[in-house]
Amino acid sequence: MQRPKTTTTSQTHGNTIAARLGASRAAERYLAVRAQTELLIKPLSAEDCQLQSMPDASPAKWHLAHLTWFFETFLLERFEPDFKPFDPAFRVLFNSYYKGVGEQFARAQRGLISRPSLDEVLAYRRQVDERMLALMVQTEQSRDAGDIWDLLSLGLQHEQQH
Ligand SMILES: [Fe+2]
Repeated sequence: MQRPKTTTTSQTHGNTIAARLGASRAAERYLAVRAQTELLIKPLSAEDCQLQSMPDASPAKWHLAHLTWFFETFLLERFEPDFKPFDPAFRVLFNSYYKGVGEQFARAQRGLISRPSLDEVLAYRRQVDERMLALMVQTEQSRDAGDIWDLLSLGLQHEQQH
């Protein structure tokens, strides 16, 4: 499977974050970024979050799930012991850009994804957040710590850029 590429610069950046912040500060940063995303949809109803205003712009609900898909696919699937996907269908529904991960649902039709519901997508976020926090606690002892901090940093920047 194709993974997002990490550069020497991001490697250094990831290691710097880990060294400077440690798992608990990394977790704080993770939760702050995730909370900021959900603040953006606070004024919106579930129906608002379903709307796709144009073929190139994805619905808010899709963004919420896709950002979570990144952490599930590139961190949990690779580093979580006994990984099980929240829902195997999400791998295709919320994939974007990453051809190496496999099939993608057509961008122009994302407004037609009536299920999972917004509540289910928010439950997906909660579950992945809990699993990510557990992963961060284990990371300080992990020989994959450098890769994990790099991908975590990439995932948070990805979430902020959306
Ligand atoms: Fe993305």
